[in-house]
Amino acid sequence: MRLDQYLATSTELSRKDAKKAITKGRVRVDGTVVQSANMQTSNEAVVELDGSELHLPGEIYLMMNKPDGVISATNDSSQPTAVDLLPSQLASKVHIAGRLDKDTTGLLLLTSDGQWSHQVTSPRRDCPKTYQVLLAEPLSSEAKVKLETGVLLKDEEKLTLPATVVMCSDSKIELTINEGRYHQVKRMLAATGNHVKGLHRLQIGEITLDPALEPGQYRELTEEELRSIAR
Ligand code: URA
Repeated sequence: MRLDQYLATSTELSRKDAKKAITKGRVRVDGTVVQSANMQTSNEAVVELDGSELHLPGEIYLMMNKPDGVISATNDSSQPTAVDLLPSQLASKVHIAGRLDKDTTGLLLLTSDGQWSHQVTSPRRDCPKTYQVLLAEPLSSEAKVKLETGVLLKDEEKLTLPATVVMCSDSKIELTINEGRYHQVKRMLAATGNHVKGLHRLQIGEITLDPALEPGQYRELTEEELRSIAR
């Protein structure tokens, strides 16, 4: 699609005003100012106007309160998946941005926009994730410091990045991590000699699980929520 058409489709600008914005240097494509309105943009291109990322209408952005017992996959004929909980016209279009274990509940993001989901999951984007963690044993102050400074996970060589720990009670914490290693939260707690009994994701970046959503329910993200990821 031509760049001026992309702008006119994704904003309130007329085609004429879109062209003006481009020639004035207000538009970037993949981080570079582009001043030719007839440039062809690919589906994966990140297009910004005055520093705000644009999205073509028609893309789907959802949050779900993932229930226990469903897997984070698009389809699996043997097990129920989070995507199975959506109506078929949505299910066929979306993928999951940041998986959860089968027994983890809470905030799951689903989208049709591959560029956007890359921003959620890319290690370079530093998108923090907050989990409510129910522990088998009370968290000692030494273990808290270890989580906050970095722990060595089994079979890995690099310490985890510093995490934030908020004590809710002796054996219930809110843990914010800035990476997404395999089974990271369970392995971090295992590395301190503890065991995770329950795990629930509360937040990704600035997107907080809507408390009105019952397990298995979903809603569209607001414009502000979806733009918060791209900032
Ligand atoms: N860390 C885990 O161990 N499991 C999850 O589902 C998410 C983060």
